[in-house]
Amino acid sequence: MRNSHCVIGIETSCDETAVAIYHGERGLLGHALHSQVALHAIYGGVVPEIASRDHIRHVLPLVRQVMRESDVVTKDLSCVAYTAGPGLLGALLVGAAFGRSFAFGLGIPAIGVHHMEGHLVAALLEPNAPSFPFLALLVSGGHTLLVHAKAMGQYQILGESLDDAVGEAFDKTAKLLGLQYPGGPEISKLAEKGNPDRFHFPRPMLDRPTLDFSFSGLKTHAITTFRSVGNDPAARADIARAFQDAVVDVLSSKCKRALRETGLKHLVVAGGVGANQALRARLHELTLQEGSTVHFPRPTFCVDNGAMIAYAGWLRFCAGERAPLVIQATPRWPIELLNGSLVDAKVEASDGTINAH
Ligand code: KG4
Ligand code: ZN
Repeated sequence: MRNSHCVIGIETSCDETAVAIYHGERGLLGHALHSQVALHAIYGGVVPEIASRDHIRHVLPLVRQVMRESDVVTKDLSCVAYTAGPGLLGALLVGAAFGRSFAFGLGIPAIGVHHMEGHLVAALLEPNAPSFPFLALLVSGGHTLLVHAKAMGQYQILGESLDDAVGEAFDKTAKLLGLQYPGGPEISKLAEKGNPDRFHFPRPMLDRPTLDFSFSGLKTHAITTFRSVGNDPAARADIARAFQDAVVDVLSSKCKRALRETGLKHLVVAGGVGANQALRARLHELTLQEGSTVHFPRPTFCVDNGAMIAYAGWLRFCAGERAPLVIQATPRWPIELLNGSLVDAKVEASDGTINAH
């Protein structure tokens, strides 16, 4: 049997080039990722121009590799899904131009996927996944969102960060402590050795009735504490622990409030910070107490990956989406703008424009 009914997914929104193939009946056939972390580490963060150039070098070899490893040939592909935003414009344009052109050459549809919708459906690739509706906690380097996910393409934001995204707070705090980029995994490793009783960090916004977050104060608190302890070799681990405890407390408290307010029974967690073991453990405890369930992608699919884009593309393809013949790259793209996108999805246009805004 040939592998027809496949969607190939291409992710280039930030600092990973990732490709995967999803098959309608057989699930995920293959995925591969090239990380640019080493290229950006010396700068302490992602350099957009370096990111774009590196995506150009890797996207085609990765597509070839995943097709070969998945035993898929071009005529098996029904659709090409690429990340259309949000993300870095130059980086997005690489995947978008490649994906749209690849689909055009094959005479099949291309779908521009919203990166955060990709993260949101990543957990649905795992066994015992819930179906819509559910509560989603999206925690990445650029976003912190609590979302009522009503259906594919139907999202209501219940709460969001008013300043730094939670991943960004991890990264900035790690940098202040002299740790490597990306900071999330570094802080969580260090926190394991930290004394939980030495420092107590504030729990921002917990006293407010909303489901919004604020994380920039925690980073300031970390650096003030770090400066106050002088030359103490144990301080970094203790600060990492206090910082992580505060973040986990705030995220889990807001999830609890959102579960109670909405009456939703399933919590889906997504985005790079979803790989954090302390957060995973706390949310397991919380949902057990609340009589609800929690669902995470496997840690490699919490961070950016091609599988989530292929799967989101597959779900949209099945729902009838046929995007117009444009190369879509949208660096700023609130997830709520997707609402209704699957209702009026069947638009065919052919003006061949590049749609970057
Ligand atoms: O979803 P992602 O790969 O990229 C974006 O869409 O932003 O998330 C990356 C973020 C980074 O800020 C990184 O520090 C954080 O996820 N991260 C973690 C962990 N692994 C990655 N934060 C806390 N604990 C982790 N284990
Ligand atoms: Zn991401």
